[in-house]
Amino acid sequence: ERVILAYSGGLDTSCILVWLIKKGYDVICYLANIGQNEDFDAAETKAMFLGAKKIIVEDLRENFIIDYVWPSIRGGLIYEDRYLLGTSLARPCIASGLVRAAIRENANFISHGATGKGNDQVRFELACYSLHPTVKASILSLFSLHSSSYRIIAPWRLPEFFTRFAGRQALFEFAAANSIPLPVSPKNPWSCDANLMHISYESGILENPDQEAPETLYQMTTAPETSSNDPTVLEITFDKGNPISLRNPQTNELITEPLALYVRLNEIAGRHGIGRIDIVENRFLGLKSRGIYETPAGTVLYHAHLDLEVLTMDREVRKIKQNLQQKMADLVYCGFWFSPELDFIRHCIDTSQKCVDGIVRVSLFKGQVRILGRRSQRSLYNQELVSMDEHGGYDPVDAGGFIRAHAIRLKEYYRVKAETE
Ligand code: ARG
Ligand code: SIN
Repeated sequence: ERVILAYSGGLDTSCILVWLIKKGYDVICYLANIGQNEDFDAAETKAMFLGAKKIIVEDLRENFIIDYVWPSIRGGLIYEDRYLLGTSLARPCIASGLVRAAIRENANFISHGATGKGNDQVRFELACYSLHPTVKASILSLFSLHSSSYRIIAPWRLPEFFTRFAGRQALFEFAAANSIPLPVSPKNPWSCDANLMHISYESGILENPDQEAPETLYQMTTAPETSSNDPTVLEITFDKGNPISLRNPQTNELITEPLALYVRLNEIAGRHGIGRIDIVENRFLGLKSRGIYETPAGTVLYHAHLDLEVLTMDREVRKIKQNLQQKMADLVYCGFWFSPELDFIRHCIDTSQKCVDGIVRVSLFKGQVRILGRRSQRSLYNQELVSMDEHGGYDPVDAGGFIRAHAIRLKEYYRVKAETE
């Protein structure tokens, strides 16, 4: 039986790799490059050394930016008012690579190292079921090895696995006994998940929501307290809601390629300490968890896009779009990236973005994104109309009737209230 394992190169998935091999599977490792800071060659060597039949390393960075991050920018997606969904967006991207590889390689099982309490298991598996027509059973039964259908193996949900590996110590011992190389640097007392869009940190010492994270935790951003004393001004151009260029008017640096643009904006915004949040969030399964996130470029783009959207979009259309984006953020968080409802909402949102063209000028400084100005061919802002100095074709007398009409309902309400209370 062939398993394709979503492999990270880390301790957990290395132990899962060896454990699967011991169970008698042929294991193919799949490692997606979505911009995490990883030595891919070393991971490859390690997987082969541990007995993988093959390892596939696939560069999904541009795919991730264009097909996952840009839709989230167009949507203005934000979960529970704060989280920009960096991990939630990466999972369906990785899962679709995993499924393509499973089909190519004729693997009949898909396996991953997400835990049984988290969101990632749901995201991986729902995406696999949506994209792979023959993924059938929800949990592998290790006793039905002869099935020809595709199945999912989530070791952290198998009693046999999780009772054996309860606590990190058991993993270390298993690693030592099976010549799995242990991490050279002592492991941080928290877990993290990195991609181009963000790094998230949770568990370990962070499980106490009142315990402050040490400054050494942060990898993508400088502390605002020690960040540069000179703001950086940038011009970001959007076309149909997608960022299409990044320009520094001081240096005239200009970037138009999506991946390069995103990477560069991460560097600049990170240097100014932008995009840190520390939150307690509601996981899909119902648990609350504490997470810390750094999303430098994503934070800048979120604010710049929002600014241009308000400039160019009709007020009533925008109210509907806001309801949809809220719904879409929940769906993305809960693992429904590949679903009919998300497809539908995405189409609606993309239609709303036809007008979101223009340039936003931002200042990045000490952890803050400040909007300095904006311009657009499709701006609905009419300076003449709104000006205090001109009439601009508007008759102020009309406003009197407008206000009196609104007052009808209010007067009735307070009349009845006064009479009855
Ligand atoms: N809580 C965040 C989310 O659900 C981040 C999860 C991080 N995942 C991880 N494997 N460390 O999107
Ligand atoms: C995990 O449990 O694997 C990470 C956390 C999450 O998925 O929410």
